[in-house]
Amino acid sequence: MTTLYTTSFRGIGQITVRELRFCFGDRLSNVRTDRVRDYDLVQFNYQGDPLALRQLGTVEDVFLHLADVPLSGEREDLNTLGEIPDLIPSLNVHRQFNGLPRGRTRYRVIVQASMQGWQSYRRNQMQGAVERAVYRRFPKWRLVPDDANVELWLQQTGRQVRLGLRLTDRTMRHRTYKTANRPASLRPTIARALVQLTRPEDGDVFLDPMCGAGTVMIERALAGRYALVQGGDIDEQAVVDTLENFGSRHKPRDVFHWDARQLPLPDQSVDKVATNPPWGRQVGSVFELRALYESAFAEIDRVLRPNGLVVVLSSEWEAVKRALARTSLTPIEQIKDIAVLGRRADIFVAQKFAV
Ligand SMILES: C[S@@+](CC[C@H](N)C(=O)[O-])C[C@H]1O[C@@H](n2cnc3c(N)ncnc32)[C@H](O)[C@@H]1O
Repeated sequence: MTTLYTTSFRGIGQITVRELRFCFGDRLSNVRTDRVRDYDLVQFNYQGDPLALRQLGTVEDVFLHLADVPLSGEREDLNTLGEIPDLIPSLNVHRQFNGLPRGRTRYRVIVQASMQGWQSYRRNQMQGAVERAVYRRFPKWRLVPDDANVELWLQQTGRQVRLGLRLTDRTMRHRTYKTANRPASLRPTIARALVQLTRPEDGDVFLDPMCGAGTVMIERALAGRYALVQGGDIDEQAVVDTLENFGSRHKPRDVFHWDARQLPLPDQSVDKVATNPPWGRQVGSVFELRALYESAFAEIDRVLRPNGLVVVLSSEWEAVKRALARTSLTPIEQIKDIAVLGRRADIFVAQKFAV
């Protein structure tokens, strides 16, 4: 049994818990969540090959849990932090993920903590205590400011700090497909969270009517089998970018240059919709925004099959609620306070119940 934890963007942790249970079910136990600044941490005991955790789509990183260190606030805490556990077994797991480091091992220590009044030391002293402890055990390793191949993280929640070894690198969260980016483009892990909430099934016909760079569509394609992934955008360059990001992978899929207010799709032809419509200044006035949401949601309602699901990420709560109220869609869930591109947004899930 191994204790691991994942980091997800703030608000996404509860969707990560669902994804973990969906993928690994009875191999998980003692699942708990914490929040550290703009991240949700999901910790769990896991029985199985940790490499399988690479398939998780909603997480930024996977860590091996090394220790929970209680903090008193006194300088004695720095000595306790210096008593890091034996790293050798953890480094073996790290090698399974990353292979043997080429040349000398480069390490760094990262501290995520909002220092509190009761703490009589600074963040960099916590970092220094762990850096020195690693140096004592591995004097041949080189301490580097970035581009490390071994990273130890300290994340403080209340009067406790969690020490972990990062197993994944940035390809986990950024993926490798996103060669064409757009200013309002979603992080793939957030796009995957939307997809996860559509409860992917093998026979899905999936739609993102306002697809931007295609992140949501591609994440749907990566999430498992499907019948068809389709989407489009009113901006021609977005269509070009989506096609570039797809490359020759993930078929069948259709990408259209279209207006989401008038979709060239038959009635009741789609099972699942996930989308991230424009918000704030991306659309002119609040009236234009409301009108866009109302027309686009009416079209989603028209093309959706009975029992179909719609997942929308937006910070325009009023516009979403007004537009949904004018459709036959029933709101079933609202996940609040997602950290997206420096803004707070909510995820709305609605279903078209069969009458
Ligand atoms: C927030 S962005 C979507 C970002 C996308 N989820 C991604 O990850 O790249 C909103 C998109 O809606 C598109 N859009 C705005 N009005 C539209 C309309 N009437 N029909 C289709 N797309 C529209 C914009 O061009 C923009 O690309």
